[in-house]
Amino acid sequence: MTGQQRAPIALEAPPAETPQAARPRGRRRWILLGVLAALLALFVLYCVHENLTLELSRYTLSSPKLTQEVKIVHLSDLHKSEFGEGNARLLEMVRGESPDLIVFTGDLVDRRATDASVAESLMRDLTAIAPVCYVQGNHEAHSALYPALRQAMLDAGVHVLENECVELTLNGQAFTIGGTEEMNSYIETIQENLAALSDAPAENYHLLLAHFPDRLTGNSQSKYRYCDYDIDLVLSGHMHGGQIRIPFTNQGLFSPSTGFFPQYTGGLYEANGVQMVLSRGLGNSIFPIRINDRPEVVSITLTPES
Ligand SMILES: [Fe+2]
Repeated sequence: MTGQQRAPIALEAPPAETPQAARPRGRRRWILLGVLAALLALFVLYCVHENLTLELSRYTLSSPKLTQEVKIVHLSDLHKSEFGEGNARLLEMVRGESPDLIVFTGDLVDRRATDASVAESLMRDLTAIAPVCYVQGNHEAHSALYPALRQAMLDAGVHVLENECVELTLNGQAFTIGGTEEMNSYIETIQENLAALSDAPAENYHLLLAHFPDRLTGNSQSKYRYCDYDIDLVLSGHMHGGQIRIPFTNQGLFSPSTGFFPQYTGGLYEANGVQMVLSRGLGNSIFPIRINDRPEVVSITLTPES
């Protein structure tokens, strides 16, 4: 045999872990699991709090058409939510604003709901506070409960606007209020309704209620855009604020209809001289939680232009 002969290496088994050494490691694992469970519980509590805590957003908009202030409370997208028994907390917040008009811009009931009694009693209770105008959202359009809910609203005196306009005098000011019903209507019918609002007496305040905010400016395929009509203010919903709102921005994360980072998620917008207030809504549909996006009651004070 050539070369150096190597001595065999003795393989020694590592020293066995003593029960005293294994115990701290097991304890650390339990502490880590406990911290993770506590963080998860805190996150769930935060989400429940965010979903149930109403936020009041106030806007003041001026118009040369007005000589007196008019206050509008704007609600939208209740879906399956309820704020206190019989929506007591929601009604208290609305009552506290002493509105001249209350509007509801669609998705009053979720399409998967099997009972519309909460929505029905809310609309009835709102009519005891102020005149109420309502437009349909995409969920009612697919709800078997809607025909009965619609009739209950009409019986309660709600103005259910289905591509039609109503003239109301609010605090002595003339308003023409148009409402779109865009899910089951011919394009021409929607266009005619928008034209009727646009052509209402010029001295009237022209208010449009429309569930879908992206139609303010539309896209290259749009058959109509709200900003092409003589409208003073559009009130809209549908987006739920993007459900997760990015802190320190006016941006929501996601919309089931338009995907990530939608153009319109909540707040005040303007296009071609037409202003739009987009409510973040009260409830949720597919995605069941809101983060940094509390259910919203919008209160708009329209003032004379100084
Ligand atoms: Fe909607």
